[in-house]
Amino acid sequence: MPLAPTTAGYMPIACSTLRTGAPLPFDLYVRMEHQQTRNRGGDHFALYLSRDHELSARDIAEFDDRSAGCLYIQFDASIEYSGYLQRCAEAEGDQNPLLRYQTVREAAKAMMLDAARGGGVDQVVRISEDFSRELVKSAASGELPVRDLFGLMEHDYYTFTHVCNVSTYSLVLAKSLGISAPAELEQIVQGAMLHDLGKREIPAAVLNKRGRPTANEWRLIQRHPSDGLKELIYRPEFSWGQLMMVYQHHEKLNGRGYPAGVGSGEIHPWARICAIADVFDALTCYRPYRKPLSTAETLSYLERHAGTTFDPEFLLCWTSLFREDR
Ligand SMILES: [Fe+2]
Ligand SMILES: [Fe+2]
Repeated sequence: MPLAPTTAGYMPIACSTLRTGAPLPFDLYVRMEHQQTRNRGGDHFALYLSRDHELSARDIAEFDDRSAGCLYIQFDASIEYSGYLQRCAEAEGDQNPLLRYQTVREAAKAMMLDAARGGGVDQVVRISEDFSRELVKSAASGELPVRDLFGLMEHDYYTFTHVCNVSTYSLVLAKSLGISAPAELEQIVQGAMLHDLGKREIPAAVLNKRGRPTANEWRLIQRHPSDGLKELIYRPEFSWGQLMMVYQHHEKLNGRGYPAGVGSGEIHPWARICAIADVFDALTCYRPYRKPLSTAETLSYLERHAGTTFDPEFLLCWTSLFREDR
């Protein structure tokens, strides 16, 4: 399952998540960009700051010049990084919800990458539970305008980035539709985080293929909602709505979706939320075979499919979030 770009045992982290005044619990690396190292093949990394170094404001100011906003840690330090982020988020409290959001997301990414190295579904479920609780908490602590969130997100369609973006969009849309109970919002976020769980069964070569999938590959891809449901259905902690987010997020109102081809009356409202969030993210992300669409192009694509694929009222709510006070 491709989760995020990781090369040669190093994992990218956003410079904006690092803080002054506390010793680093991990070594920081930069990627070498010299033509010479590129010609030797593979990626090369150089130690930039050692563990226990206390970051100064000057260090932080220099990051952008050295690294274009991205530094690296060794894969084995992902748990230290996630603990560091959690401590930063707690220390900053409710000061800045956007920063808190970013911190929560990076912590979940680090843990998810760790889980991808051999952890099973149990570990993924546990991470999704923590992430949904923290995300709902950060959204409750202040305004999270969707346009600001959009600017803060990564748009690369790796599995982790995608499910994280879809969870965030699902939360924003659910809140705009009037859902306010934290427990319900947490369930929606967790359902969205797990919506593509069944893709674990699809070989990476098929998921990352540049051209159109063959008929056999397409059949394999279309199994992922049912495979995801099978993974979760015997777990009593999941509600019906969450299971339907996993099972029905590719269904269409006109009955031409998959896996069951059910019509509008049978698609759970949470699955309708997830469907909008899912396609919105897919179209606004870089893919191996095309550039991302702009938000305006994506919204008009979604609108062209209102009533046939997407719930028209939910979609109106979603588009209005981007068009408000413009
Ligand atoms: Fe999917
Ligand atoms: Fe998806």
